[in-house]
Amino acid sequence: MSPIYPSPMHDFGYDVADYKGIEPVFGSLDDFDSLVAAAKQRGLDVLLDLVPCHTSIEHPWFREHPDWYIWADAPNNWLSAFGGSAWSHLNGRWYLHSFYPEQPDLDWRNPEVVAAMQDVLRFWLERGVAGYRVDAIDRLLKDAQLRDDPPASEAFGLPLSGEEAELSLAHSRNAPDTGRALAKIREAVGDHFMVGEVYLPAARWQPYLDAFDAVFAFELLHADWDAETLRRAIEATTRQPGAAWALSNHDFGRLVTRFGAENARAAAMLLLTLPGTAFLYQGDEIGQADGPGGERRYDRAGRDRFRHPMQWTGGRGGGFTSGEPWLPLVDPEHVNVEAQRDDPGSMLTLTRELIRLRRSLPADLRLLDTAPGVLAYARGEYVVALNTTGRALPVPRGAELVLETEPAALSRDELTAHAGAISCN
Ligand code: NOJ
Repeated sequence: MSPIYPSPMHDFGYDVADYKGIEPVFGSLDDFDSLVAAAKQRGLDVLLDLVPCHTSIEHPWFREHPDWYIWADAPNNWLSAFGGSAWSHLNGRWYLHSFYPEQPDLDWRNPEVVAAMQDVLRFWLERGVAGYRVDAIDRLLKDAQLRDDPPASEAFGLPLSGEEAELSLAHSRNAPDTGRALAKIREAVGDHFMVGEVYLPAARWQPYLDAFDAVFAFELLHADWDAETLRRAIEATTRQPGAAWALSNHDFGRLVTRFGAENARAAAMLLLTLPGTAFLYQGDEIGQADGPGGERRYDRAGRDRFRHPMQWTGGRGGGFTSGEPWLPLVDPEHVNVEAQRDDPGSMLTLTRELIRLRRSLPADLRLLDTAPGVLAYARGEYVVALNTTGRALPVPRGAELVLETEPAALSRDELTAHAGAISCN
């Protein structure tokens, strides 16, 4: 679950004003307990989004413990992820905010901060959550001397805003002693699951992988739907175990809009057949598209269009709410769970079959040689082949067909345009 803590909502809840409560607009702690219990009855675990690097500027800590935050007499050249300086002026000093000015950065070199956050981590585990998605964790520790980021001498390896791409970002994040703070997080979480949102290429995943179970593979999330690019991203992120896969999320948009409706089924097949944990963004299982665009009612950075409600039914409110949603439903009359549930040809049925099948896929992954435009890999005796082009192409395959993105996609050894198939030897 994305953040559900009390928040003034300057960043959709990623500005937390109380780490141990539930935002009243969503319900109460009792509601939360019922939710966790109801999920458990259905064999589901709940992971919470932990936001340890910054609080809301309205969090009492900011008033009561200003020394828990990072201050300077004058700003350096560090940039906010949303553009402009990462420093804002307050009472004659400057405070650091790696994101919006409403999100001051905590100082993780202060042991009181570490203790307070460990307390938070234990609080939710005691209430029954299974673990955490840990937000923006490469921002946990920055250069203690607050030195300027030098000019970039090589590419960062993941997309950055123009301004950020000009700097090396060597001091504004991912400090060399990060591992020590990560170990404190692990200490409080015990054996529970943790996936880190680490906005770094896989080659720089240590020390995050030492502390966490998994790290999001942003190289794949940002890859275009092109076999060669996808292959390079998978190669780079599977050199060590620990990649968590996501092809879309609340920051970067949905599958259908990112890759085109014609490729959405093959993209779901890719996401759900890679080895490791897969994160399927709500709505992607039915092929929901982003909103029409332009909405900036809630997020100044323009991400509202990725955050329209889940469409359960074709009726008013899409089965999501009987009230007025923050953002309107996009097209529930065309795309909804109810209509797809019993349709053997629907995206939802394909997604369910993929989830069922992934449980039997062996752990290993071997990328296969293919014609240009085809991405194929073996998972033990299974062969997954995806055609990223608009024309039929020959693909490697096993003797027995297991699952196709659409009927008759695989004939002999040829896969139709935009399709995917899983076969088995
Ligand atoms: C990453 C979250 O996914 C994003 O939505 C948020 O704006 C930043 N971290 C800051 O918390």
